[in-house]
Amino acid sequence: MRTRRTFLCSLGATAAFAQRRPSGPLRYSADWNSLRRHPLPAWFNDAKLGIFVHWGLYSVPAWAPPTGELGKVDFATWFANNPYAEWYLNSIRLKNSQTWRHHVKTYGEEFDYYRFAETFNRETAKWQPSVWAKAFQQAGARYVVLTTKHHDGFTLWPSQVAHPNRPGLNSRRDLVGELTQAVRDAGLRMGLYYSGGLDWSFNSTPVATMEQVGGTIIHTEEYARYADAHWRELIARYQPSVLWNDIGYPRQGKLPEIFSDYYNQYPEGLINNRFTQDHFDFTTPEYAVADRIQGKKWEACRGLGFSFGYNRVEGPEHVMAPEKVIALLVDIVSNNGNLLLNVGPRPDGSISEIQLDRLAKLGAWMARNSEAIYGTTPAANPAGKTADGRKVNFTRKGEVLYAFLHDRPAGPVTIENLFLDAAGKVSVLGGGAVKASQKGSALVVELPAQPAAPYTVTLKIENGWQLAR
Ligand code: GLC
Repeated sequence: MRTRRTFLCSLGATAAFAQRRPSGPLRYSADWNSLRRHPLPAWFNDAKLGIFVHWGLYSVPAWAPPTGELGKVDFATWFANNPYAEWYLNSIRLKNSQTWRHHVKTYGEEFDYYRFAETFNRETAKWQPSVWAKAFQQAGARYVVLTTKHHDGFTLWPSQVAHPNRPGLNSRRDLVGELTQAVRDAGLRMGLYYSGGLDWSFNSTPVATMEQVGGTIIHTEEYARYADAHWRELIARYQPSVLWNDIGYPRQGKLPEIFSDYYNQYPEGLINNRFTQDHFDFTTPEYAVADRIQGKKWEACRGLGFSFGYNRVEGPEHVMAPEKVIALLVDIVSNNGNLLLNVGPRPDGSISEIQLDRLAKLGAWMARNSEAIYGTTPAANPAGKTADGRKVNFTRKGEVLYAFLHDRPAGPVTIENLFLDAAGKVSVLGGGAVKASQKGSALVVELPAQPAAPYTVTLKIENGWQLAR
């Protein structure tokens, strides 16, 4: 006889996902209450995996000390030893920082950062956008987000918006447009990153502390007009599926107007939480993940190593192992998140072997296991575990439960707090049916002695399963 159990997959989880579809086309007006009625577009919730691309002038020097992951290094030492290679300009403005010393030695103290534009423009002429689109699609990604303007202020599209004091900070080739086209041709969605709060071509005060990140956001009419015009130009030219802003926004900016015009034209579009706290569709933890289902949809981003921009100093010891990338995606998805996994290409568009290797291994895993990823909802809050203490993640699709077993499991695996009816069926995705037997409140699954799939194995569980607290 079964005892009464509380379903982990009940209320909390489902409520977070229930999407009320508007009966007719919703018109949005330029006020927060109206904008907050924007429902989370289903495509984003279903997609689970996106590729972030950090590409710009900083990809030319491509240098940063591999200090460690964000969150694992204290902010007192972070900026002078900044592992984010896309922060190169800020790092060389901090005299005596490691990057400054590298810059002086390699290019000379007088070498102006913006002179990297010459090399960047020359090298990007070699780039083949379809090669990226194919690699991202084969990795299993359903969308891509590209840095159209990072903190240095250089735009990756030939903008018509005039820079008031530094003309010509634009890419010669329309990198944004060409990637957008290639990505769409491959059947993926395109999102655009834009650094709204920081622009070091307007404000050359270096950032040396966490407080100065917020303190150097440019709150002037002139810059607000510039950033607004950029966002409007990006939307008009490329119809992005995601507006991915970074580090706040000038307070004089006209966000409600931009947002309502955007939603009215593209109701399936999304706005991230780095413009303003007044309205957003999803949150964006960086080098961090939630270990519970969140009330709001979330998207975790991180580099494969310690940096978003390409860092030639990083070696295999700094880059996530393939099994870590897979386990990360699974863990995020099982808590209603998406993973926006970053790639930092070289100026000529080539992607380092180790980054390509991680994309390819993720793709190979997705080819077998993606039915347990795309379009799923979480099934347990928090994750479960095996009798020997390993984490077991769960997702579900309709009546089917998926259980993810990490670390190349083999032989018998005991999953705690999982019940299966006598008529129940267990199989390994990409493998075959496996035997399962109930042992008290645990389900013992007999996996082949040799791991059936690399790294994380996914079980498909059908017909009368129950998860208990
Ligand atoms: C940050 C960083 C940045 C990176 C980004 C990605 O705020 O400043 O370099 O582009 O977030 O999440």
